[in-house]
Amino acid sequence: MIPSLPKRNGWGGNEDLVLFQGLWIYPFMLPGILSAQQQFQAQPADIIVCSAPKTGTTWLKSLIFATMTRTSFDDSTSPLLSKMPHDVVPFMEFDHARFCTHRELGVPLLATHVPHSLLPQSIIDSGCKIVYICRDPKDTLFRYIISLPGASYYGPYWDHVLGYWKASLEHPERFLFFKYEELMEDTVLYVTKLATFIGHPFSSEEQRKGMPEKIVEMCSFDHLSNLEANKSGIHRDGMIENKLYFGKGWLGTG
Ligand code: A3P
Repeated sequence: MIPSLPKRNGWGGNEDLVLFQGLWIYPFMLPGILSAQQQFQAQPADIIVCSAPKTGTTWLKSLIFATMTRTSFDDSTSPLLSKMPHDVVPFMEFDHARFCTHRELGVPLLATHVPHSLLPQSIIDSGCKIVYICRDPKDTLFRYIISLPGASYYGPYWDHVLGYWKASLEHPERFLFFKYEELMEDTVLYVTKLATFIGHPFSSEEQRKGMPEKIVEMCSFDHLSNLEANKSGIHRDGMIENKLYFGKGWLGTG
């Protein structure tokens, strides 16, 4: 199928991008996306983190995982202290497509970079909840996600954002739409909203004891980027150094 798809040069990449169902991707991404479309079985209790690359995915994964698992782990025992966030919350079209039992610690949390229009039908049908994050395009311009005139991977970026934005307006009970900048501005407020949305609201006792603040602190850039698991090690079969997810200006997939 790949040779028959339209191609064009991606920004900065050596490899050509191919156009698959309106989405510009690198050819190596196609098998995982197809496999997810054909085989992924979402459960009603699943939470799916959706984003275009470079918009705050790693951070949002950490915040949701820490929020969902706060009764099992605390800020001294969380798997986030010893594993990098992408190993804790797998991507549907990369990790889960290859190891379909891979759901860390039985937590019903997965992530994807595919746009709304390419989500597996089971995600739409299951009624599961979706949390999307977008970011000011000018801050992601040099991270290759904006589409001028169209060839950025997982682009066009505007279509990516608009697809989820419209879905969040139509189904606010199923879609929570975050902006990276707002999350930065008042992370505690948005984590509290997030907890309620995913069905794990903070009790007054938890609020009194500062649970939202502890989660925010544990998932802060300064804390996560200084953990050994994120400073060293290599992710996805040696493809990506963990520290690059926390570096400034890295251009890869994650
Ligand atoms: P910069 O490129 O401005 O450094 P993604 O995880 O989707 O690849 O997004 C990467 C961006 O999120 C990077 O921005 C990175 O610095 C930022 N980021 C990663 N972890 C973060 C955290 N814990 N808190 C805030 N921002 C974080």
